[in-house]
Amino acid sequence: MNRNKEACHCKNITYGMIEDAVNAGCTSYEELKEKLRFGTSCGKCQDFIHYLLRDIKESREKSF
Ligand code: FES
Repeated sequence: MNRNKEACHCKNITYGMIEDAVNAGCTSYEELKEKLRFGTSCGKCQDFIHYLLRDIKESREKSF
């Protein structure tokens, strides 16, 4: 995963910031959104970040 890639353009949220929040204990989309405040401007990133969160969680489960 390219941690510097942008996940939410409006709020300057990167893949790495999302990954770090998941590692810090955010497991649901709602928790993640509350912590990072993405998706509150144009909202275009919301579907994408749902998928990104799922992928991050799946890859963590595989590594255990
Ligand atoms: S890209 Fe995330 S709110 Fe616009």
